[in-house]
Amino acid sequence: MLKKIFFSFLISIICMNMLAKGNLPVYLDDTQPIENRISDALSRMTLDEKVAMLHAQSKFSSAGVPRLGIPENWMTDGPHGIRTEVFWDEWDQADWTNDSCTAFPALTCLSATWNPKIAEVYGQAIGEEARYRNKNVLLGPGVNIYRTPLNGRNFEYMGEDPYLASRMVVPYVQGVQSNGVAACVKHYALNNQEFERNRVNVTVDDRALYEIYLPAFKAAVTEGKAWAIMGAYNRYKGQWACQNEYLLKNILRGEWGFDGVVISDWGGVNNTEQAVYNGLDMEFGTWTNGMTESRSDAYGMYYFANPLLEKIKKGEISETEIDKKVRNILRLVFRTTMNRNRPFGSFATPEHSKIARQIAEEGIVLLKNKNNILPIDKNSVKKILVVGENAIKMMTVGGGSSQLKAKYEISPLEGLKSVFGADKIVFARGYAGEKVKPQDNVKVADTYDHRPADELKNEALEKAKTADVVIFIGGLNKNPNQDCEGNDRQTLALPYNQDALISALAKVNKNLAVVILSGNAVAMPWVNEASAIVEAWYSGAEAGNALANVLSGAVNPSGKLPFTFAVKLNDYGSHTLGDYPGDSNFEETYREGIFVGYRWFEKQNIKPLFPFGHGLSYTAFEYGKASASAKIIAENENITITIPIKNTGNRAGKEVVQLYIGDEKSSVPRPVKELKHFQKIDLQASEEKNVRFTITADDLKFFDDTKHEWTVENGKFKAFIGASSADIKSVLDFILE
Ligand code: GLC
Repeated sequence: MLKKIFFSFLISIICMNMLAKGNLPVYLDDTQPIENRISDALSRMTLDEKVAMLHAQSKFSSAGVPRLGIPENWMTDGPHGIRTEVFWDEWDQADWTNDSCTAFPALTCLSATWNPKIAEVYGQAIGEEARYRNKNVLLGPGVNIYRTPLNGRNFEYMGEDPYLASRMVVPYVQGVQSNGVAACVKHYALNNQEFERNRVNVTVDDRALYEIYLPAFKAAVTEGKAWAIMGAYNRYKGQWACQNEYLLKNILRGEWGFDGVVISDWGGVNNTEQAVYNGLDMEFGTWTNGMTESRSDAYGMYYFANPLLEKIKKGEISETEIDKKVRNILRLVFRTTMNRNRPFGSFATPEHSKIARQIAEEGIVLLKNKNNILPIDKNSVKKILVVGENAIKMMTVGGGSSQLKAKYEISPLEGLKSVFGADKIVFARGYAGEKVKPQDNVKVADTYDHRPADELKNEALEKAKTADVVIFIGGLNKNPNQDCEGNDRQTLALPYNQDALISALAKVNKNLAVVILSGNAVAMPWVNEASAIVEAWYSGAEAGNALANVLSGAVNPSGKLPFTFAVKLNDYGSHTLGDYPGDSNFEETYREGIFVGYRWFEKQNIKPLFPFGHGLSYTAFEYGKASASAKIIAENENITITIPIKNTGNRAGKEVVQLYIGDEKSSVPRPVKELKHFQKIDLQASEEKNVRFTITADDLKFFDDTKHEWTVENGKFKAFIGASSADIKSVLDFILE
């Protein structure tokens, strides 16, 4: 660290010296406006140097301009931890000894906290780790909307609601970029499944595009000021998203004024002209083994490499088009690697572990707690039986590009033993999934159990007879066709016959708590048989400690679901209408339109298993009478809604108060209600606070795709205030005129 400080001090002395003499080139003078530095650097670059900047030179880097002292750009996965260093042109990890990172919780867990403040803390911490590893672009966060529970990558994203995802992604981006590291929001746009992700052509109306699928990207760009965005693999309007005029030029640049860099997904480019003219800036991953094909001359053959150079030299493509791209890349450089004032970062520190645990604790959702069997009193309990493979399985390995070489990962079993005492904990495997295959050569503990399924099951049932409490820890994992990039799940059901085992355990011991680790909703045929149910996500390095702190009551759970749990798969619009996963020509129309998630369930009057926004606490909250500052407003006026919330229990807790808006009568179909505000508040036992929301006309608008603008119609509206989308405590009517 001292060496770094000394050298940067030395460089600044030299620059100040040159500056003092007035002969420092403008692009090196960081007292100059960035746009002037860009123009000066561009004017000094050769055509070859410009083109070299536009495409990868290795798996995760692109060229700088050594002659001018302009550094390379280094990208790194992923949204919840800094991927291990890989070989120059391989996906395999390079066996470095200093790149074992902090594994932060998956972003679905972050979203389940409903706490924008903690999202900024998260972004700041992961940005510090990227900075320390000298990466200037973090390939995350992902904000694709959860349209189907089968999407293998939902665990990397922020749920089914555009407003929740928007509020959570902005502070994350700001946190990352406070380190002088670019957040690269992905996958723009409409990458809502992994099945045939490179081929599917999405058709969706503009109302759904603008009201559901774009808001989180727009917020990340226009509020979060993201410095980079990644094009998706899929097609939209027949053009690949990485070279899509409507998405990249019309919307991203034209409507949102994005001034950052558009980076392709790895292998997402397939046409030089289209990519040049439709707004792509940097091409990565083409001809990359594991994506398309591996070839020795790949980097020279990239669409933005020799083929582009030849077209420019023949006059088929003008150099001014290239200059636009180089400007965007130089802007990235001056915001990151050539910003002398950026901090130095930190890596795999105790502080980051603490942050990872806090996020995990706040994201865990208590779905059910009959007879209050939770929390488990660690002083009075004598014997806890822990059942299930996910109690011991590493969850930071696998899942695709977001996998990590974590410095450590506390398993649920380890966490429970450290909180309750190993002498009180008995473990039975209960079931065994597939053997874990190491991905990209990242080491993974082999916890496979070769015993026959019946033996595993009977052992668990036998031990359950004499336990005070049984904690079943199952769910999904990061294997292909579960929560994993590159393919989707094929059923809503839990794998490995977990359902039968859970039902059998419930018959043997009624004090059964089921803990699901997953990034997606799962079917729960045993929902009435288990006394308690907890969704604990993939929550990273501190998973076991966070879960044990919640189950023991050291932490009062406050997570709320960021997506709907349905009773059965066909209850989701994308499945009811049969559009998922697309037809034999890879065409897929999102016919449910804006009715995604709870919007669909409420439109169709389908009762969910657990609704969007649901989550219980170990204490109780009483919602007082809501009041509104006005009953009638004009379009330029606001309404302040006030609702007293009281903690009527005997312990402190956090509550997420949610406000939804419903338009009683409109010229277009609209959802029964849509989330438009929320606040997470801390209340001591018996404490009462007034929660206030300000409703503006923006909260009442819908996207009119005939006029291509957001619009609001006069008339009656309802404000629904509640503890979830289905647990509404107050409804206030008001009129817009
Ligand atoms: C992958 C993913 C993307 C990731 C990139 C680099 O295919 O789609 O999210 O950042 O390639 O690994």
